[in-house]
Amino acid sequence: MQPIEIKPGVYWVGGIDWDLRYFHGYVTPHGSTYNSYLIIDDKITLVDTVKHYLADEMLSRIKTIVDPKKIDYMVVNHVEMDHSGSVPRVMEAAPNAKIVTTPKGKKGLEMHYKKEWDYILVQTGEELKIGSRTLKFVQTPMVHWPDNMVTYIPEDKLLLSNDAFGQHIAGTERFVDQLGWDIVREAAASYYANIVFPYGDQVKKALDVVETLPLEMIGPSHGLIWRSHIPELLKEYRKWSGNEPDRKALIVYDTMWGSTREMALALQEGIEKSGVPVVMKFLQTNHISEVVPHLLTAKLVLVGSPTLNNGMLPTVAAFLTYIKGLRPKKRTGFAFGSYGWGGQGAREVASVLEGMGWEMPEETVNLQYIPEREDLDNLKQIGSKLAGAIE
Ligand SMILES: Cc1cc2nc3c(=O)[nH]c(=O)nc-3n(C[C@H](O)[C@H](O)[C@H](O)COP(=O)(O)O)c2cc1C
Ligand SMILES: [Fe+2]
Ligand SMILES: [Fe+2]
Repeated sequence: MQPIEIKPGVYWVGGIDWDLRYFHGYVTPHGSTYNSYLIIDDKITLVDTVKHYLADEMLSRIKTIVDPKKIDYMVVNHVEMDHSGSVPRVMEAAPNAKIVTTPKGKKGLEMHYKKEWDYILVQTGEELKIGSRTLKFVQTPMVHWPDNMVTYIPEDKLLLSNDAFGQHIAGTERFVDQLGWDIVREAAASYYANIVFPYGDQVKKALDVVETLPLEMIGPSHGLIWRSHIPELLKEYRKWSGNEPDRKALIVYDTMWGSTREMALALQEGIEKSGVPVVMKFLQTNHISEVVPHLLTAKLVLVGSPTLNNGMLPTVAAFLTYIKGLRPKKRTGFAFGSYGWGGQGAREVASVLEGMGWEMPEETVNLQYIPEREDLDNLKQIGSKLAGAIE
């Protein structure tokens, strides 16, 4: 396994998880990578590791450069096991190494691995000289765990940003420009929507610091490394973290016999006629984690469910539970559905959307059994009015 030199003396020595398809509730059709970075200086430093089952792959890349025994510092930017899972293997291979992490990082490592290791504890603003280079640490709490920090190397203008700016893509390419901005941007948006979305305020604070750093390269802990498109990336992160969706509608629904789908199609027509683009997401063919990247950018969100056993469909409930946790703000919502006798499905949807503090300018539409022509015409008009409400 070969390392890749990303800056003179700084090597990518991570692991490629070609087969990853499911990452704590998030479907990852393109797999992922866990990026570790080896810095050869007076003090040999490894920044982050890989999931435990890729430890040998990481170590074999390291061994082509240096005997792992010689590692002096093991920087742990984040305790989550996709990055710390191979710390025990590194510490076995490098018995003299010290772990460089935050106080919360130390506590988290102790709780995960129950091992006695030597630590150097760091906080925002602290520096560690490793020879010709300096490691500067910036804590980024709750982006997306309490222990998160990033490591900046001013001499290389290199930010090792851990989960921030990551994307779940496995491949032979290591740099964004090798794969193309459009593809990587989409994967970064999906990653943000599924993992970072709830922590917009904390992201803004982290961006306030990151934007002051001279940057030539950002090495995240998943996916491709940014040596191009950094201003564009930071601009996207600003937009996503500020909850500034586009003039765009997202219709999410499920159906048993097709009535709620007919309602969804009528709403789509009304919205499109008013010049607002509409994304349709049927929950039997789209995993919820494939829907939320559109939630990131849609101002208008319509959710439809028929009534099943006095409630909404479980697929819709799963979607709503997921997005409640992601805490999208400044959205306009609408609930709809077909029912047979009780009609609780659409009402439950409405109460969840209202509970998230969304604007709900139109009354919930609950139709009995099969929609009539005039029902669908009415829904088209509601679609137009909703489109008007997000002007
Ligand atoms: C298994 C099952 C359970 C249902 N339970 C309820 C219910 O508790 N209350 C209700 O109002 N309608 C209930 N219905 C009726 C549906 O809500 C109704 O058929 C509706 O038109 C289906 O909309 P759809 O075509 O979008 O699936 C149930 C239907 C099925 C198949
Ligand atoms: Fe993480
Ligand atoms: Fe991660």
